[in-house]
Amino acid sequence: MIQDLITFIGRFHPLWVHLPIGFLIIAVFFKAYVVLGKKPAMQEAVSFSLLLGTISALIAAVLGFLLSQSGGYEDDLLVIHLMAGWTTVIISGIAWWVNKNELRFGRKLNYTVLGFMILALSVTGHFGGSLTHGEDYLTAFAPFGEKQKETKGRVLAKVEDAEVFTDVIQPILRSKCQSCHRSGKSKGELNLASYETMLQGGENGPVFIAADAEKSELIRRVTLPSDHEDFMPAEGKKPLTEAEIQVLIWWIAKGKADPKASLMAADEEIIAWAKPRLNILGGEKMLAVSIDTVHLKALEKMGFRVRVLSHESGALDVVLPSDAAKDRASELLKALLPIKDQIYWLSLAGTGIQDADMAQIAQFPNLQRLRIENNPVSDSGISGLRSLSKLESLNLNGTKVSGAGLEPLAEINSLKSLFLWNTAIDPQDQRVEKISAAGVKVVFGG
Ligand code: HEC
Repeated sequence: MIQDLITFIGRFHPLWVHLPIGFLIIAVFFKAYVVLGKKPAMQEAVSFSLLLGTISALIAAVLGFLLSQSGGYEDDLLVIHLMAGWTTVIISGIAWWVNKNELRFGRKLNYTVLGFMILALSVTGHFGGSLTHGEDYLTAFAPFGEKQKETKGRVLAKVEDAEVFTDVIQPILRSKCQSCHRSGKSKGELNLASYETMLQGGENGPVFIAADAEKSELIRRVTLPSDHEDFMPAEGKKPLTEAEIQVLIWWIAKGKADPKASLMAADEEIIAWAKPRLNILGGEKMLAVSIDTVHLKALEKMGFRVRVLSHESGALDVVLPSDAAKDRASELLKALLPIKDQIYWLSLAGTGIQDADMAQIAQFPNLQRLRIENNPVSDSGISGLRSLSKLESLNLNGTKVSGAGLEPLAEINSLKSLFLWNTAIDPQDQRVEKISAAGVKVVFGG
């Protein structure tokens, strides 16, 4: 009864703590206003907010103490938070006293005490936050530092590689238990973040006994009626589904809690249920077969931008940005020859390529889209492209191509669009009409 009352009152602590934080910070702002804004009349307000801050901090400390009696908080963090909290109470009291008698103590001391007060407040707040949200709460989503682990399991090549614990159970624990049982926040002194920490058990000893699910505390906790006070997950958090419980039971009973037990050894229903939940490598597996990633990396180092269009065929979109070409386009193009069958889209806009380079491009048999706009390319070069039997789109904007250059292009049956802005070609040219009549969309600008 008394215990419940203490817990009930203590739970106001997280709400109440915002009061002293607000009062003490506003006191510092008032003080800055007095000094920098030359408003001596506000001095009274500084004292008053410091007084309110001290009193509310004292109340917060008492509530916090009551809350800590209800247990469930990590010891080390709790001690630091508690000490820092009481320090804040004491320093804010001193700050109030010094500020009230500033003439006697001097300004320097007054400012110093206020500085320490804010420091103590920050430390208290930080450890308080870590207690309730876990140590990494503040930094977990920060743009710097280590990213949070994915909630999905590790990536597997095939179902046969799956281990019951690592690939099925851990993701369950991660989503339903680790908010309270992990490093930095292990309620009941139980950390469910890894097999090793699970093995260490909780405050009442081991949480599972290999081959004996019935005697395993972990199983008992999750199979109790949900209104039982020992039921896990606590505090009305989303409970485990029946299937999730069955996997846990199977793993401990028949899998003998072996962390390496294969999913294939489990009952058929369990495998069937778990399969779609695994993170099986899909398209990427094909990628490993058909695309030489080492070569792609090398190309990227040279300045190419490479994108995979289709994992199945290994089709690539290759772009050579004009600033990466630096008058070396012909030389760089040679680096594409080893993957010539995989280049489906190619952009060499503004790279300075010339007629002589067209013979190389003509060796990419699967090329579907080619952008060579804004290059000093003329009819003689273009004629080399006629062998590109899969070419669908060709951009010749800003090249030196003329009406005569269209004749070899008319031989490419696959061609669907042709871009001819800023060229010497007259839209009224007979050859334009002819190629349009053959089903090619010809685009002139302006
Ligand atoms: C909302 C927080 C919370 C969540 C979520 C939660 N627990 Fe707990 N758990 C606690 C607290 C608090 C304790 C300590 C008090 C107690 O023993 O009931 C505890 C204790 C335990 C214990 C006993 C440890 C010991 O040695 O006494 C086990 C086992 C356990 N939890 C398993 C689980 C499992 C499995 C899940 C996920 C299905 C889970 N918990 C989810 C808060 C939580």
